[in-house]
Amino acid sequence: MKPKIFVAREVFDETLAFLQQHADLTTNQADQRFNAQELAARMQGIDGVVLTTAERVDSDLLEACPSVKVFSNAAVGYNNIDVAACTAHRVMVTNTPGVLDESVADYAMGLVIATCRRMTEGEHYLRAGEWKGTFLKQLLGKDVHGATLGIFGFGRIGLAIARRARGFNMKILYHNRSRAPEANEREVGATYVGKDDLLRQADIVLLIMPYNSTTHHFIAERELGLMKSSAVLVNAARGGIVDDAALIRALKSKQLWAAGLDVYENEPHFLPEFLALKNVVLSPHIASSSEPTRQAMAMTAARNCVAALRGETPPNLVNPEVVSRKLSTP
Ligand code: GLV
Repeated sequence: MKPKIFVAREVFDETLAFLQQHADLTTNQADQRFNAQELAARMQGIDGVVLTTAERVDSDLLEACPSVKVFSNAAVGYNNIDVAACTAHRVMVTNTPGVLDESVADYAMGLVIATCRRMTEGEHYLRAGEWKGTFLKQLLGKDVHGATLGIFGFGRIGLAIARRARGFNMKILYHNRSRAPEANEREVGATYVGKDDLLRQADIVLLIMPYNSTTHHFIAERELGLMKSSAVLVNAARGGIVDDAALIRALKSKQLWAAGLDVYENEPHFLPEFLALKNVVLSPHIASSSEPTRQAMAMTAARNCVAALRGETPPNLVNPEVVSRKLSTP
């Protein structure tokens, strides 16, 4: 008998075609956003779930859906899933590392440039009919080339961003839980510094680190206070890493020059005060959203799900303890 897979959100035709070869599917091609009860109702008797970061998996959901053996997140980040609870329930969790690195790095650099050069503000000005001619002091921005870029998070994506920044002749500082291999530092000319030194020295502070209980409000009032008043903050990582209310205060008071944000606390319900600020570039959590990359993410999640249900160790298993515990249990 084929396993049963629930695909919680709309996916690509090729994702469905692949999954159909291996499982009986329940799909959501209408892309409805289900609440916890609706999700639980659709997961009864289901073996594996392909989901996105918009779906939350917690112990209540796990208890309501005891047949589920694997949650395959179509994202590299998995803070929407309580991994410890999944491990306790012996449920596998997988993610999609690698396939989105270059697209996210492209987008992060795009946010850096858009913020420093006030690109969206310029577009609003033009669309509003305010462009009356050329003035020397029009929408003056900050230069990206030659600026000091401070990257928090120096994994694969951080490194891909640093490679791009090198092409802009930027000075690159980074901070990470652990220092990167020397070869990576040398390749991009990046210097490891402490958190506060990075905040004090960088012209552009860029966040590309995971969100978890230890990185909640990693950038809050104190940290914003250490940054230069001419500096720019870019968050291409996760909402919750930045204290959004503190950021709004810093942007309003011009304690910080500008911010470029792809992510927010409580997405998609970001703080409305952001909308009134000119010195912030806002985008709706789409850093990985190029067509080939989103296709690759969906297919990676599908492959992980199928592998798990075949009794194989899925390639991107986040909680390998589940498998080792299974093997060691008589
Ligand atoms: C996107 O935010 C991801 O985690 O893949």
